[in-house]
Amino acid sequence: MCLTDEELIDIPPERMAAAYMEYRRSGYEFIRRAAVDCGVLDALREPATVAEFAARYQVVPGKLAVAELLLGALNRCGAVYRAGPRFAAAAEHAPRPVDDELIRLATGKSSYRELGYSGSFGRVVASLTQGEKPALSGFDASNVELWDQGMQLPYYRYGRLQAVRALVSEGNALLDLASGTGLGLLELARYAGHGKDTDLVGVEISPDFLSAAAQRTSGDPRIRMVAGDLERPLELDGENCFDGAMLVGAYHYLRDPVPLWQSLASLLRAGGVVCLAMTFSRTGSYDQELVDLRYAQRSPAAVPRTPAAVAAAAATAGFRLERDFWFGCFGWLAFRKDHREPAVRPDGRTSRPNSR
Ligand SMILES: C[S@@+](CC[C@H](N)C(=O)[O-])C[C@H]1O[C@@H](n2cnc3c(N)ncnc32)[C@H](O)[C@@H]1O
Repeated sequence: MCLTDEELIDIPPERMAAAYMEYRRSGYEFIRRAAVDCGVLDALREPATVAEFAARYQVVPGKLAVAELLLGALNRCGAVYRAGPRFAAAAEHAPRPVDDELIRLATGKSSYRELGYSGSFGRVVASLTQGEKPALSGFDASNVELWDQGMQLPYYRYGRLQAVRALVSEGNALLDLASGTGLGLLELARYAGHGKDTDLVGVEISPDFLSAAAQRTSGDPRIRMVAGDLERPLELDGENCFDGAMLVGAYHYLRDPVPLWQSLASLLRAGGVVCLAMTFSRTGSYDQELVDLRYAQRSPAAVPRTPAAVAAAAATAGFRLERDFWFGCFGWLAFRKDHREPAVRPDGRTSRPNSR
């Protein structure tokens, strides 16, 4: 099942959130099976702390943190119970069958069996005793296809399309920050104005992704690509000249988000909108342990932040939260830039009159 953008965009967020959560529930089921197949649950017949489990299961040095995340995930899905610092296999565990209708909506696959999860979670468990390096998921040419698949999964595309929808109603000068391989720019181009004043700018740090995006978007004079690191001040076309910006699936890759907020405060006009979509966060939702485990296997590392921390960073730069919805620990947040500039800007300089 492949939904068109128009079909996807009109689905209520609550429905897509339910579909997303079912997808994660099937992930827990795969990890539980991998744990059974690899003898993890056998090693937990007697309660054990993480260190005791590691000794019993012969976890290789350096994988203690992954072992802890695995036990946390098994605990979350009910395969393991926890008493104080100790974990033990649950006597009974009978998860309800996965709802393939919801899996289809979230992933486009006709059944959870098609997700390819069994191999990846099998490797997570196996890596505890084999000391494999984290899965290579860097933003380079060898991974373009892999990332493109993930970034086109319906639940992910949904978050990006909702950001596109929010932005195009704000004006014609729009930024796609951390624009990846250009999927979001193409979507912006579909819905944005077609006049000469339409300016769609992608900013991206990875040279390989930048060139993939340049190829993908070539021929559309409204789109331009700029190489840039969001952890440094962005200088583009002067101040207050963009109506909106989106950052999809990338806020958690920024070790320091302050420069980004400073750049947004300077680049966006008063009243402009910023959408952070598919932002991996620390919410404690049902999927948290599973997603933590996934990200722990990947490089580059991600930094999940609490919703309050994100809102506080935005507020310091003069942005207030206007709307949000959540797919478990993935947040979609829209902020609007204050009409008045903050008295003291996040970079410590005092405000000056708006140039627009
Ligand atoms: C998961 S991809 C998302 C791509 C795109 N936003 C989308 O949803 O289709 C994350 C992107 O963030 C980019 N990125 C990570 N850190 C960055 C930084 N400091 N500055 C600019 N881009 C960055 C990566 O290169 C990658 O293209």
